[in-house]
Amino acid sequence: MLVVTKDNFDEVSKEAAKLLATLLRRKPDCVLGLATGSTPLGMYKELIRLHKEEGLDFSKVITFNLDEYVGLPPSHSQSYHYFMWENLFKHINVDPRHVHIPMGMAENIDEFCQWYEEKIEECGGIDLQILGIGANGHIAFNEPGSSLGSRTRIKTLSDKTCEDNARFFENKDEVPRYAITMGVGTIMQARELLLMAGGAAKADAIKATVEGPVMAKYPATIVQLHQFATVVIDSAAASKLDGSYSGF
Ligand code: GLP
Repeated sequence: MLVVTKDNFDEVSKEAAKLLATLLRRKPDCVLGLATGSTPLGMYKELIRLHKEEGLDFSKVITFNLDEYVGLPPSHSQSYHYFMWENLFKHINVDPRHVHIPMGMAENIDEFCQWYEEKIEECGGIDLQILGIGANGHIAFNEPGSSLGSRTRIKTLSDKTCEDNARFFENKDEVPRYAITMGVGTIMQARELLLMAGGAAKADAIKATVEGPVMAKYPATIVQLHQFATVVIDSAAASKLDGSYSGF
């Protein structure tokens, strides 16, 4: 695992965008695993800039998002569909037919999850998976206790996650209780992982992820077992680490 610590979150976003852009230039038809939340926003802004100012081409890229709330239609302002189109897709030249985001309104969720897994496989697997991290150590919506071998499925959100995400809704009661999420095992099959985090609120989760034992209580700790995982964090998120990691 490569841990890269940056002075501030702006640099984290730029570093992450640089890594993604490097892959895209090397493999224009790469398969990207994308994330939502506040963490990747700065990276998406930088990718939009690279597209507009430097012609970074997304026309052949295939994307798969990590997760989506159950019961929110794509038009809902807090759905991850809406998030992705507003914050990235509508600003770049991605082919809408190449975009995959779990369907929170799927009639048969189990069948949908199976289809999502098969689709990832059919597209050749994910080349680079972007990850944020929950303050409780979740990745995507794989909450503490998730099987480390899990596949795409429906999960109940923890109280902590509902509280953390309540800031995006009118109140905590409006946060959906269920989500469709890629599993920990699905994520681990990506050829490369890029986990980003910023801020002191993530310091405990980052300490567990980088230095703690691998355990289902902190699903993010699984990244220690990935052959090509990069963790890019700011100094606040790195503040509880014992080791010093110089990165690149
Ligand atoms: C959400 C998402 C995760 C994300 C996490 C952190 O629950 N499902 O994919 O990594 O929360 O969010 P943020 O980046 O806003 O801190």
